[in-house]
Amino acid sequence: MTVVDESIIQQCMQELESISDQHGLDQVKAKYLGGKSVIREAFKRIAELDPADRAIQSASINTIKREITEIIFAKKALIAEAETLAELAKDSVDTTLQADFCRQGALHPLTKTLDDLKRLLSKMGFDIASGPEVEQFYYNFTALNTPRYHPAVTAQDTLYINDDQLLRSHTSCVQIRMLEKHNPPLRIFSPGRVFRADTPDATHSPCFMQCEGLVVDEASTMRDLVETLKCLLEGFFKQSLELRFRPSYFPFTEPSLECDIWFKNRWLEVLGCGMVHPNVLTSVDIDPQRYRGFAFGLGIDRLTMLRYQIDDIRSLYDGDQSFLQQDDELC
Ligand code: DAH
Repeated sequence: MTVVDESIIQQCMQELESISDQHGLDQVKAKYLGGKSVIREAFKRIAELDPADRAIQSASINTIKREITEIIFAKKALIAEAETLAELAKDSVDTTLQADFCRQGALHPLTKTLDDLKRLLSKMGFDIASGPEVEQFYYNFTALNTPRYHPAVTAQDTLYINDDQLLRSHTSCVQIRMLEKHNPPLRIFSPGRVFRADTPDATHSPCFMQCEGLVVDEASTMRDLVETLKCLLEGFFKQSLELRFRPSYFPFTEPSLECDIWFKNRWLEVLGCGMVHPNVLTSVDIDPQRYRGFAFGLGIDRLTMLRYQIDDIRSLYDGDQSFLQQDDELC
């Protein structure tokens, strides 16, 4: 006599075939292995058997039980995997969807000029320096050999915050700030924004950019100034250039010069420069008998406009996308 027939394994497998979730699986498991299952019943009936049969029968039930357990366990793994795949399918990213259009940005023309100036001046041994845009009258004028009632003060159309504070009208103030902190020899450049009470038009903007250059040591001459500017401007315009120097006046240089370049068949003024005035050195306690130097101040907007043939300075500041997107043509 057999207490349980092996065909029960087959029967269980068939039932499992149609099961696809954990709930269904639990029901099948209860039916075949649970408290009231055929297997449990079979174990109970062992006691009714001949003692000689008991060992064989119980081994047979155990084998059947183990097989059914394994089948159910395998099915459980299949269901879990199918559930995971279904979850992933719900979350999946549709790679065939059109991606959002992403426009590539471009460097602003002023940034490109600035980057070039930084690269060229660094190569010539200049260190970069900076100063505040809200400046004291002292640094913007007094220390630069321009006392309060000097005519050059009014000539600059400065925007004042109060008697002692203003929006710097040029980057020359950084000369003083650097000379106060560092002993010569010194070789710095300082690009940045400057401000003037100008009504905007094609050639004026109340905010524009300058780059100051300053060398103070025991030996610099005007020849070094000329060679430095030639090297800088030729590097910037990527061509050899003819330079012209005209006498000029700035309170903080003596002699003072304007520098022009011969570009596209005409002379164009590009910067002001000169030998550092002894009074400037004295104002920062540097002995003008021992030290000397040269300085220059160039308009970053002006250089940018010349290089890219921009005829209205306002284009550089009004953020017009159609202007800024001409990147490729500008290069
Ligand atoms: N600060 C002058 C201006 O804004 C430009 C300038 C001229 C700077 C001569 C200098 C210089 O360093 O030597 O017009």
